Amino acid sequence: MEGIMKQSKLGRRLLLFPTPFQGHQYPMLHLATLLHSKGFSITIIQTPYNPINPTYFPHLTFRSFYNSSLESYSKIPPSDPSTILSVMDDCSEPFQDCLSQILQETGAATDKEPIAALITDPVWKFAGSVAASFNLPRMVLRTGSMSSLLVFSSLPCLREKGYFPPQDHKLNEPLPELPPLKARDLPLEWLHNERLEALVQETKISQGVIGNTFEELEDYSIARVHQILSIPIFPIGPLHKHSPTYDTNYWAQDQTSIGWLNKQAPKSVLYVSFGSVAAMSKTEFLELAWGLLDSMVPFLWVVRPGLIQGSEANNDSLPEGYLEMVGERGHVVKWAPQLEVLSHPSVGGFWTHNGWNSTLESICEGVPMLCQPILSDQNMNARHVSDGWRIGLKLEKGLKREEIARSIRKLMLEEGEEMRNRITALQQKATLCVKEGGSSYISLERLTSYLLSF
Ligand code: UDX
Repeated sequence: MEGIMKQSKLGRRLLLFPTPFQGHQYPMLHLATLLHSKGFSITIIQTPYNPINPTYFPHLTFRSFYNSSLESYSKIPPSDPSTILSVMDDCSEPFQDCLSQILQETGAATDKEPIAALITDPVWKFAGSVAASFNLPRMVLRTGSMSSLLVFSSLPCLREKGYFPPQDHKLNEPLPELPPLKARDLPLEWLHNERLEALVQETKISQGVIGNTFEELEDYSIARVHQILSIPIFPIGPLHKHSPTYDTNYWAQDQTSIGWLNKQAPKSVLYVSFGSVAAMSKTEFLELAWGLLDSMVPFLWVVRPGLIQGSEANNDSLPEGYLEMVGERGHVVKWAPQLEVLSHPSVGGFWTHNGWNSTLESICEGVPMLCQPILSDQNMNARHVSDGWRIGLKLEKGLKREEIARSIRKLMLEEGEEMRNRITALQQKATLCVKEGGSSYISLERLTSYLLSF
């Protein structure tokens, strides 16, 4: 596949540059397929770390650049994301060389197909200046929520107002500028300050933001980010609603999940998964296991490698005799076909870390959530789910098995009905917005014209 330029009907090519993490690659791949369906040719530029397998995407062209440090990270996911992020920061030169080669080949080709723009993940710190050095228009894809981008963009103002460093007695104070967030939901600024500022800067110097969100869900944050950054915003999500689900190179999806779900009663099962990166301590993992058992609710639990900090979590990490005690009431897998699971009639709740993809997928399938955020944007997403849209219950950190079991029963058996009604209303909006005349549909039309105007 490499190097072969597959052409499409508009005679214009877009270059897409995702970061090599699953939660970022998925939405970029959905965007690639969507823009290809609008008539653009697409080239994905990738690194040696977690490369996407081109054979799954015959309609896209793939180009890779080399970086020995990145190649040496073979473990998925990284045991410490910050180390790999700093290696990624050093990829400016190989990226520049790769871009220069693509532009030269395009210029020399007999069937010239001009490059309309570059679309990058704003986590890449250098893409803006590299694109500018080639006079190449660049847009960014915001793979997370618009509300968390609003928080990142508001950090200087929050700092001025004295929210940092956070004070223990003020942690539960609401942030009037950022409803429904509380001070405790703000990012750990002293850890991420420089990286978050770079992300905002990369976004600000772009020609516009493509958002994996929709107006009906995040209208306030979309309008505020537009006001603060003064660049066009195109909310065209939920992106996965536009194109089919993909298998990438991560773990094989365990299809026994569906066979097991087929045997369960409607809306009876709690699906439990914490995404591809977040990890917990062994103590938290064990409390979670016992809480699930004690709740007496049927569950499907994803225990993926790396879920326990510093160890390869698997079934052996469970307490001795645990699976026998659970019996037919539970099913544990390494990786599930999540979208299929969430849309299964037996699933009645989702215990999630509130990564943005999982949050959106749960909304799109109308499944209320038990929220246990672990890192980065997840705290903010969880607060919107529990206190904003009121479609989930938020667990605080350090819960013991009794409280966990109680919360599970509350979600699945006691308060679930009201949340289910609210999330069903949002699900309908998510379905309609991508259909002809819907907000994301119109935004996509605008985006297509905008990309052709460069
Ligand atoms: C990361 C960050 O952690 C998250 O906070 C940020 O918003 C996006 O990047 P990740 O932790 O992987 O993402 O979570 P999430 O955004 O929820 O994405 C996980 C993806 O993996 C989802 O699309 C989900 O459908 C898929 N998945 C997860 C599976 O296909 N099978 C599984 O068993 C679990």
